[in-house]
Amino acid sequence: PQVCWLSPEQTAGKQKPYMYTQGQAVLNRSFFPCFDTPSVKFTYSATVKVPEGFTAVMSATSWEKQKDNTFVFKMAQPIPSYLIALVVGDIVSADVGPRSRVWAEPCLIEAAKKEYDGVIEEFLAVGEKLFGPYVWGRYDILFMPPSFPFGGMENPCLTFVTPCLLAGDRSLVDVVIHEISHSWFGNLVTNATWGEFWLNEGFTMYAQRRISTEVYGLPYTCLEAATGRALLRQHMDATGEEHPLNKLRVVIEPAFCLFLGVNPDDTYNETPYEKGYCFVSYLAHLVGNQSKFDAFLQAYVNRFKFQSITADDTLGFFLEYFPELKEKGVDSIPGFEFDRWLNTPGWPPYLPDLSPGQQLMRPAEELAELWAADGLNMEAIEAVDITGWRTYQLVYFLDQVLQKSPLPEGNVERLSKMYPKISKAQNAELRLRWCHIILKNNLEAEYSKVKDFLHSQGKQKYTLPLYRAMWGGSEATRALAMETFSATAPQLHVNVQNYVKKILGLGVPE
Ligand code: BES
Ligand code: ZN
Repeated sequence: PQVCWLSPEQTAGKQKPYMYTQGQAVLNRSFFPCFDTPSVKFTYSATVKVPEGFTAVMSATSWEKQKDNTFVFKMAQPIPSYLIALVVGDIVSADVGPRSRVWAEPCLIEAAKKEYDGVIEEFLAVGEKLFGPYVWGRYDILFMPPSFPFGGMENPCLTFVTPCLLAGDRSLVDVVIHEISHSWFGNLVTNATWGEFWLNEGFTMYAQRRISTEVYGLPYTCLEAATGRALLRQHMDATGEEHPLNKLRVVIEPAFCLFLGVNPDDTYNETPYEKGYCFVSYLAHLVGNQSKFDAFLQAYVNRFKFQSITADDTLGFFLEYFPELKEKGVDSIPGFEFDRWLNTPGWPPYLPDLSPGQQLMRPAEELAELWAADGLNMEAIEAVDITGWRTYQLVYFLDQVLQKSPLPEGNVERLSKMYPKISKAQNAELRLRWCHIILKNNLEAEYSKVKDFLHSQGKQKYTLPLYRAMWGGSEATRALAMETFSATAPQLHVNVQNYVKKILGLGVPE
């Protein structure tokens, strides 16, 4: 079932069927016979014959169209099984850089080209400057149908992304920087087991924010990191800090005792990303000098490229690379022991300083405070002009409002009227937060927006939190959840379907 077959209605163009595969974490075993573990790497080639009017693309370093609608692919570098990916559909491409093009259904290609024309190469160049050569040849981006469950998937040479990234203003480009960063962390140096998924995602978050800092500056990058920290807070509040998944190193049980351990798919939560980011930031903090730490990252990639490794390899290399730190015993500073970072659940013991983002965060915090007040001070509110705010500033503002919700009676209605830029936003990150606020404040008049948003896309990180909020709310929001799910279930990726069923108590066989 993990090869996804979409009917024409499930595509953006609604004309032709579409198929795609999603390998990570352990789904490619139902696509082709393989050692379906990230600890084994291999090259591959594939010959794919498709019907007339369809195009096949794969995560491969070279491809060639032969006669009879037959495509031949070769991946010249060794990769783990989860990075093999195939799409067959009515798709076309457009160049956006010297080694990059976008792929999309014909009805989206114009928007896709506009969103990323001329911006990808700079990210690749900065990545190469920081982390060493880009070994994958091309870096192309494929815009997936709306039900694609992730923001992005780092399939080598050909990143898959949600069409939600087509915001029209390049505001969600951090996802692309993230997937590009996997070209070094994840795709070159790979976690040997899914129990140490943070090695892929934590280092990638760090690399993403290094590239972002070089391109967009520290204040903006700190603002983006602050929204990440808010997600970690929400995740830990929802699961409980002491939940075993809130360790960086989780125990994955073999199939015969599935109920005791963790399904690798369940590790897809904020902990490996944002707590992992904090740990890597802590390592950088121990070094105390950004360019020295950058040099370490580059040496690390060079040392372990094309290999699969464990956190012990990473940390061993860190101490070997900085013998003076090893001598000081930085791996066992009370409260910050490497062992504690890896094996203890809970909030990160060290948080990187995000205060360079204050100039962008402060106005958003102040505005949120005004809106949370009992008698609204409209004069003060109207004095704040948000028309020039960046998307992530609005996101940060909405996160603050959400934290303070439910607001006093009537405030959210007024906020909605005052800022159509927010309440009528098309940007998915803003819609997600607005829907959350609608639910937490029981703003029944706008429930249809939650439904519309869940109909428009099927990204897991948007879908599950909204169902959790609906299920944890009133009679009315529970009914909304049931109604929405019965209408959208067939469009969702089966993993996402199963997670929603679990939230709604609809019983899923384990
Ligand atoms: N590799 C992940 C997506 C993934 C994780 C798929 C686990 C299957 C199992 C990808 O690189 C990712 O992290 N995507 C994020 C992007 C964000 C952190 C910028 C996403 O989809 O939200
Ligand atoms: Zn990632």
